[in-house]
Amino acid sequence: MEKLMITGGRPLQGTVSISGAKNSAIALIPAAILAESEVILDNLPLLSDVAVYSEILEELGATVAWEGSQMRIDPSSIKSIPMPNGPVKKLRASYYMMGAMLGRFKEAIIGLPGGCNFEPRPIDQHIKGFEALGATVTNEHGAIHLHAKELRGTKIYLDVSSVGATINIMLAAARAKGATIIENAAKEPEIIDVATLLNSMGAIIKGAGTETIRIEGVSELHGCRHSIIPDRIQAGTYMIAAAATRGNVLIDNVIPKHMEALTAKMQEMGIGIEEYDESIRVLGSPSYEHVDVKALVYPGFATDLQSPMTSLLTQAQGVSVLSDFVYSNRFKHVPELVRMGAKIRVEGRSAIIEGGKLNAAKVKAADLRAGAALVIAGLTVSEGVTEVSGVEYIDRGYDHLVSNLRLLGADVWRQTE
Ligand code: EPU
Repeated sequence: MEKLMITGGRPLQGTVSISGAKNSAIALIPAAILAESEVILDNLPLLSDVAVYSEILEELGATVAWEGSQMRIDPSSIKSIPMPNGPVKKLRASYYMMGAMLGRFKEAIIGLPGGCNFEPRPIDQHIKGFEALGATVTNEHGAIHLHAKELRGTKIYLDVSSVGATINIMLAAARAKGATIIENAAKEPEIIDVATLLNSMGAIIKGAGTETIRIEGVSELHGCRHSIIPDRIQAGTYMIAAAATRGNVLIDNVIPKHMEALTAKMQEMGIGIEEYDESIRVLGSPSYEHVDVKALVYPGFATDLQSPMTSLLTQAQGVSVLSDFVYSNRFKHVPELVRMGAKIRVEGRSAIIEGGKLNAAKVKAADLRAGAALVIAGLTVSEGVTEVSGVEYIDRGYDHLVSNLRLLGADVWRQTE
């Protein structure tokens, strides 16, 4: 097991380039199952979740060639193989195997997903969608069995605008008979990215990025080449780290529009933000105002940046209230930050954060974004060494984290425990 060692107190300076979006990549790779010929994905992030997904596709019989940021997937030899166990258990997003396999083979057996378990994360809306399309869905000993004689387009109203359910239904419906309409669909940029790939494969999907998505089913999809959008959560994490260390960083390869909820909050705190076509500069300063933040579905403030933002708000003057309306209890980073001297208490869905100095400590990342929050906290502490264990979680979402931070002047290194 490895841990991250951080001697903080150095303002981050320089340029960091953001890789492709994790949460797009892990939907786009299974989407390739729906094609009959080669799909080429560019701007792929180098992450453990991507490696697991390529392993899953190879187990099904696909040929996967992954070199640098490009993955070539030839799905033509894929077979319908049950996957109740094995690599699907390592990933939360293995639920996309259900929609993709159901779309192509009208059947699938997929073990219930693993991944970051900061709270119970149901998939009832995914299942409601598959059933509405005509599939029979049962849970047998922890594996979801799906079967349909044929998939028929229909209207599906999501009770919660779930990112995963929206994408999963798009995957299955792309090869259904007739039109499917998803109402109260999630609007996250990753959904547009998946729809763009599917349309390049020959699907007919309109309205992705709005609350109503219409999918006209087609009988066959073909290969294509697609470049993945930049990772807005990774970009946001570096923006927050730049501000927390009072640095001056150009975050390159971003879509500034995706960052609006964060940039607005950072500006409200008094942090300098300069926006360019594909980059954002963050200019830190000695003191920040407290703010209240509500994590909501897109285009609201991203829940995935809630934990990193908690660390930034410890650097503001006065009391900030950070509430999460997507997940009710995503606060595993809080007790660890408190070990570092932060004055935070959790009340219901909110963290109440009183600004103040942090101290070096040994802390543990319990999930991916909690890990990012602890790294940012460590970067603000100049005396002593902060040790962050649970690095395997952080590696699920941040490629080249240590080398990127070192390039920005941080004193960070990996150490084997
Ligand atoms: N929900 C249900 N029923 C469902 C699906 C979701 O009640 O069938 C609830 C969830 O419990 C949650 C809310 O709806 O309270 C939103 O969940 P959503 O389905 O949108 O989340 P997800 O698709 O499972 C993706 C990202 C998460 C990110 C959320 C919200 C992937 C693989 N994961 O999860 O990313 O937090 O959307 O934006 O795309 C991360 O990157 O650290 C991460 C956890």
